[in-house]
Amino acid sequence: MLKLPGLIDVHTHLRVPGGEHKEDFQTGTAAALAGGFTLILAMPNTSPPLASAGVMRETRQKAQRASHCDVGLFAGASPGQRRQLADLAPHAVALKIYLNETFGPLRVEDLVTLLTCFQTWPRSKVIAMHAEGPNVAVGIGLAAAYQRPVHFCHVSRQAEIELIAVAKRQGLPVTCEVTPHHLFMTAADADRLGPLADMRPTLATAADVDALWAHLDTTVDCLATDHAPHALAEKQSANPPPGVPGLETALPLMLTAVHAGRLSLERLIELMVINPRRIFNLPEQPDTYIEVDPQAQTTISNQELHTRCGWTPFAGMTVTGRLQRVVLRGQTVYDASPAELKNRLLARPGSGHVLP
Ligand code: NCD
Ligand code: ZN
Ligand code: ZN
Repeated sequence: MLKLPGLIDVHTHLRVPGGEHKEDFQTGTAAALAGGFTLILAMPNTSPPLASAGVMRETRQKAQRASHCDVGLFAGASPGQRRQLADLAPHAVALKIYLNETFGPLRVEDLVTLLTCFQTWPRSKVIAMHAEGPNVAVGIGLAAAYQRPVHFCHVSRQAEIELIAVAKRQGLPVTCEVTPHHLFMTAADADRLGPLADMRPTLATAADVDALWAHLDTTVDCLATDHAPHALAEKQSANPPPGVPGLETALPLMLTAVHAGRLSLERLIELMVINPRRIFNLPEQPDTYIEVDPQAQTTISNQELHTRCGWTPFAGMTVTGRLQRVVLRGQTVYDASPAELKNRLLARPGSGHVLP
């Protein structure tokens, strides 16, 4: 049995408010613990979005009542509410700016709002971006002009990771994350799985995937799940929303990569604990750790999931490495031994802390 620190996911969608039929704080943080995560950062593209102080305050209260693990919230930038950024900041861990189209209407396409974000958001808190293609260069330019950290979410293309590598070599304050689905799947899987493998950024070519793996020991800072649950009926509808769940599959997939010699266990901890904590300035969690059996083989199954959406694009895949136990602040909050799923979660709703 291996003892590792509790994992941190800097990119989770928990769907509160407005999307509770997909996920809520209770089911999402249960899925987090079942995946070995003891601290997760929730994204602001909810309905309404976490872009006003009122919605932010209410959502924090809901998080505090229901969460099984520690949670921080992202504030979202939106042109109509850009004057609220200063009021939002005390409630949020970081700011999220969506430069490209994805799930939900939260988007920034005008330079005035971008400048307002960089001028008014506190310098002590990171600005994270959903930026695809040339928009990565926009983010790098803003990081350089304002000399402040920018974090790029779910980088998926060779040209993007290469540009971020160049920016880092120039000493610019940029960081980035990649997701397990962009490391373990290509456009061929999207053809096979249809809407169940549709996400933003879309799955890429084998060359893009190879580039992400090649930069995993250097340019990539974090491994983030982009846990983006949608109901199966929504994914199978005429107008399927983009996004796939990921909290409960990230660790087994990455342990499988360790088993195959594709990355070291030390690097896995850097990507999933140390760098996330440093970049987002997150507190230590005392007496917090997970136990994993690195040799155990399992097959990923929809029946074993805690996420409300109840499906994963990785169903049927055999992985090596299984989570056995999660301890948060000295308490066993998850134990994988009971046969019945509902007996594995031992945390009380509300026992998680809401940051900051
Ligand atoms: C995310 C979602 O469903 O909220 N979807 C996705 O395809 N990744 C939004 C996002 O992270 O861009
Ligand atoms: Zn995104
Ligand atoms: Zn996302």
